[in-house]
Order: sequence, then structure tokens, then C-alpha cells
Amino acid sequence: MKDFRKLLSQMTIEEKIGQLTQYNANLFIQSDADITGPMADLGLTKNDLKNVGSVLNFKNAKEVYEIQKKHLEKAPHQIPMVFMMDVIHGYRTIFPIPLALGCSFDMDLVEELSRMAAKEAAAGGIQVTFTPMVDYVRDARWGRVMETCGEDVLLNSRMGAAQVKAFQNGDIKQPDSVATCVKHFAAYGGAEAGRDYNTVEISEHALREYYLPAYKACIDAGVDMLMPSFNTLNGVPSIANEWLMQDVLRKEWGFDGVVISDYNAVGELLQHGVAENLKDAAKLAFKNGCHIEMCSSGYIQHLKELIEESIFTQAQLDEAVLKVLQFKDKLGLFEDPYHGMIPENEEATCLTVEHRALARKGAAECAVLLKNDGILPLSKEVKKVALIGPLADEHEIIGFWACRGRNEESITVAEGICKMIPDAEIMVVKGCGNRFDDCDTSGFAEAVEAAKQADVVILCLGEPQKYAGEGNSRTDICLPGVQTELALAVAKANENTVAVTFSGRPLAIPKLDAAIPAILHMWMPGTEGGNAVADLLFGDVNPSGKLSMSFPKAVGQCPIYYNHMNTGRPKSPAKESRHVGYCSNYIDCGNLPLYSFGHGLSYSEFVYEDLCLSSDEFQAGEKITVSISVRNNSDRDGKETVMLYMRDMVASNARPVQQLIDFKKIEIKAGEIQIVTFEVDETMLRFWNNRNEWVSESGLFQISTGYADHLILTKNLYLK
Ligand code: BGC
Repeated sequence: MKDFRKLLSQMTIEEKIGQLTQYNANLFIQSDADITGPMADLGLTKNDLKNVGSVLNFKNAKEVYEIQKKHLEKAPHQIPMVFMMDVIHGYRTIFPIPLALGCSFDMDLVEELSRMAAKEAAAGGIQVTFTPMVDYVRDARWGRVMETCGEDVLLNSRMGAAQVKAFQNGDIKQPDSVATCVKHFAAYGGAEAGRDYNTVEISEHALREYYLPAYKACIDAGVDMLMPSFNTLNGVPSIANEWLMQDVLRKEWGFDGVVISDYNAVGELLQHGVAENLKDAAKLAFKNGCHIEMCSSGYIQHLKELIEESIFTQAQLDEAVLKVLQFKDKLGLFEDPYHGMIPENEEATCLTVEHRALARKGAAECAVLLKNDGILPLSKEVKKVALIGPLADEHEIIGFWACRGRNEESITVAEGICKMIPDAEIMVVKGCGNRFDDCDTSGFAEAVEAAKQADVVILCLGEPQKYAGEGNSRTDICLPGVQTELALAVAKANENTVAVTFSGRPLAIPKLDAAIPAILHMWMPGTEGGNAVADLLFGDVNPSGKLSMSFPKAVGQCPIYYNHMNTGRPKSPAKESRHVGYCSNYIDCGNLPLYSFGHGLSYSEFVYEDLCLSSDEFQAGEKITVSISVRNNSDRDGKETVMLYMRDMVASNARPVQQLIDFKKIEIKAGEIQIVTFEVDETMLRFWNNRNEWVSESGLFQISTGYADHLILTKNLYLK
């Protein structure tokens, strides 16, 4: 690593502060004379811009090249800029949204897709991605559930670590590696009522057990940067939260990387009412270890003053700048400010045949078969197919946060199906729209007529892709508009109806479940969505996705999650739908979700047998082996995620009814039996107690397999 002390001694204070700021690319491509518009709104002068150390939201490799080149022509010490963007589920070749990726339970696949994204993004000039987003979630109303991988902390942690590993690829200096930034620290996903940016109030035990571990897993995996969240956490916005940013992040976890604010999060400390003015906001953020301020100008305008007033020392400023310079050095930018990127190569690197094939595989692996009364897979010999619904021939299925993905480059369901069964007659009828205010039912008659004529109906329903993602929370998570009515009318006309659903969040679709024999949930599948739908419906791919987040029966059940407490008055699932006595159930729909976390069907039938523990008692320091035999009781090869759960039966704190402690995805040939083994040790049985310690307590535990409310086999285990 270079010694930057000499460089620091030559830099002016303005040059140093510039290294601690990041602005949008548009500020750097406007003409030098232009200081109106966004730049003036931020209170910046063109002199300020000259020192700025990093850029976000640029268009492509060419733009990165031009901004860097222009910068270096004038940069006094030849310090390169660093270029950052959000690469959430692909760069140009878009794969399924992270919530869907979680459903694959396949970390090799996550790594493969993330490597592809890294290669394309690096070719597009991206040196750092604001990924992984590992905010733990339980409320499907929140639009940003699409960016997470759901309601389980172990899955979240493994996914985050896999993304870090794949993007960084061992050495962020490599031209096709991209440095990562874990976000949003912390508990942004706990927003009250699922409303974006809303207050987060979470007990320390819930924070420690569910919300914090995935950020820590990314740090352990070597993430270089971290972004604090917009929200208040127990009263204090994250970026100004000393307990979070200092006590937990630095002192307890020893994080030593670069911290960058979220977009204007420093400025928003004023709206939160914890800073009187921007100077105060800059003071709070800097004091709590934020190195780079994104898109507000507290540092540029006030950090110098804060040093002159001895609120901060020159040495503190130097430490922060040093951290940024060292990071740029780790990226190799002092040797090659373009990070190996050649603008002319971007186009050829992206959306290749191989990348499309991988996106197609990914989209199929992440889909979840929610229901199948035996109608699926469909025969390729089918003569007449009615493709009905607003998403039947729609390109907008790539999802929010699709970086450089283009809707027009995606494969629609109609295109995928036409290629799969070229000889069949295919009728495509939209039937209705899919926005909230699409109430027009005048297309129903044509849809019903097509359904009557068809051998099989494929209904394509869902949310528009812009209904999830940042700032897109919903109070009603049903199918928007009159899509449910369309589905019921069509299903009445033809009982051979399959629904293919699309969304950026779990949906409440009890009527669809009651009326339609088969439902395949595609989430937002990305560029190759339509081909993946065809692969799954016609059996070229056997569905294997399992839900990473529960689908409620009604929005009023949110937040809903499998690892809930039992309460003092639980009700047996058998009496789920009726109100009997005083108990914790809702009287109008029960407590169980429509489809639980872990639910997902296959065209194969898997039989679980012989759950065995190498010992039924053990103690700290020892390990036991758990084995389960899984039989593929069908004539189709398939994939199955085998999940291991535990329940602490008696402890000093009430414990959840289930907790996932391990999982493995296996491929099983038709008729084959596989023995799946897991190791369990005492650390996996720990919880955060009221004295703020991780502990396990001796006593009875149950070890189970199956999923959430559908445990198949259970054995007792005593911890001595
Ligand atoms: C989002 C972040 C994102 C940043 C930069 C913010 O609005 O909250 O997740 O990384 O913008 O695009």
C-alpha cells in the first residue's frame, strides 16, 4: 500500500474535503461556465467541483472515461475519481430481483449471476456497486423488499456474503472486479407500516438476532464499503447514531472500510429534526465516521469551518481522506484511473448469448410454483393456447433497479411461449390493465371468448415493475386493478387455466389461489423472463424455488413471518379459520399466511424420511450430525432445498416457533435417494438475552426439517 502522508501534506484543505464528497455525473458533464441548476441548488461553485473525489449515476463507460479524463487534466495531484452505481440484479443483462434470488437458495447461482453482473458493470465503467442490500424484512408493503432476500436472517447473510465474494472476486484491482458497499445499515427494512423511509423502532434482541447479522456477514466476507440507512433507529438517524456507527460497527465489529452516506442523507438530518442546519448535520455525520457525503453539500460547505473552530482536528480530516485514498489505491486507480475499462468494449461485453442463457437459467431457478393441482407441466403437443392478461406480451418485467437493463431487450411471455410451441395457435388478449386505477372491464368479453376456444389458458398477471423499489410502498398488496375479476371470469370459462404472476413483493392473492388450478410466481424475472416462463410451464425446467418471504392472505396480516413467537394464547392451525375463545388469531382470516416462507412445489415428489441425530444430547464445544433421507418419488429429476430448523422449547426469553439454522440445495435424479447431512453446534442455538449477551441455555430443543408451518420430521435434542 502506498504511503499517502506526503500527498496529504501537499493537499489544501479544500482538496481534502473534495475527496469526501460524491455527486451525480451530470454536474461534471455540464459546461464549465454553467453553475445554475442542480449545482447551484447544492450551493456548489465550479471550484468546488474540481476537487470532488467520486461520481455516481453516470450513463456508460464512455461517460466515465470522459469525466475521468477531463478531471485528470486539471487535478492538482492526479488523484483519480472513483465511480459508483447501483448494480442490484444485473447491469445490462438483467436477472431476477434479489427477493427472487433468495428463492433459489442456491449460493452458487447467486455467485454466477453476480459475476456476470460484475463483468458487465466493470465494462460499463463501474468501480464500486452499492450492493449487497441486506435489509431484513417482514412487511411486503415496503417497496424495497424486492432488493432484499427476505424474512430469514441466515439466507440474507449467505446471499450478502456470496454477492460480496462474486463482485470483488478476490482482488478489486482486477479489471472485471467491482468493489461492493453493503447497505443500508441498519434495519431500514423495519420501517413502520412498510412505508418507505419511515421510523424504525426495534428492540436490541430483535436487532441482534434478525436485522444486524447480514451486515456483519458481508463485513466478514470482505466488503470494502458500508452505507448507513436513511431511517431513524430507535430515535436516531443511522448516520448520526453513535451506538450503531461507533459502538457496534467500529468497536465491536472492527469495520475498517469506507462509509458513504445514502443519497442526501446528511442533508436529511435537518428534516429528521436532529440537526439545526447543514453545518450541524455535517458535524454529526463526520463525528460518527461517515467518510463520503453523497449528494448533499454539508462537508464541502462546512467541514473547513468545523476544523477552524476546532470541532474537528486536521488529523481527523487526514484520517478520513487517507481512508478514501487507500481505497482508491486498493482499486488500482492511481496506476489505471479507468480500471482496465475501454469504452469501446462495453457493448460487446454486455448481453452476450452466454449472459442471456445464464439470465434464463437464473429466472427459472428463482421462480416459485405456488400451486399445482396437476395441470402443470403443460404438453408441448397443445394445439390452442390463450395467453391472457396485462403481462402476457409485456416487456416491463425486468424489475425496478435494473441499472442499464432495457425493457425492450427483454423476452415477453408471448415471445417465450411462441418459440417453445411454434406449431400451436396462440391467441394473445390483454383483458385489462394492471395499474391501481385500471378499472375498465370492457376487454373481459374477448378474454373469456379466447379462453373458451383454447385448450389451455395462461393468465399473466401482476404488478407493474414500478410498483416496487425505492419510494414504492403499497397499502394494498393485491393484484392491482380488475385483474382478479379477469382471472375469475377466465377460469370460469376454461378450467385448464394456469396463472403466471409477476411482482416485486409478496402479493395477497387468496381468490386466485381458490379459483386457479396452478400458479407460477415469477417475481420480476429480468431480461429472459418470457423464455424462463416457457421452460417452466412446459417442463424443460423443473421448478425448484422456495419462498424467501411469506405471502399473506390479506394485507392486514403484515408484518407476517415464519419465525414468530408462540404468544401465550396460540391457536392450533387446525382451527385456523374460526374464532374460538380468546386467542391470538385474527377472527376473519387466521394467522397463517397463504404461502409460507419455504413453500415451493416441484414436478417431482420428494419424500423425507429418517431424520437422525448422531446423539440426542450434547454440550458446548461438541458437534452433532443431523441426517435426513430424501427420496425423489417421481419419474422426473428435480432439485430440492432441504431446510433444517430448530426450536428452543424453554428459555429465559420467549423464543420463535421456528428458526432456520441451515439449508442445502440438492439435485436428485428420478427415483433416487440422497442422505443430506448437517452439523449442529451450540453456537447455532444461541440468542441475545436481556442482559445483552449471546447465550445458549441448557434444555430441550427440537430439530426439524420441512419448512415453516409445514415441518415434516422432528427430533428432540438436549443441550447439557
Ligand atoms: C438509495 C440507495 C442507493 C443510492 C444511490 C438511494 O436513494 O437509498 O440504495 O444506493 O440512492 O443510487
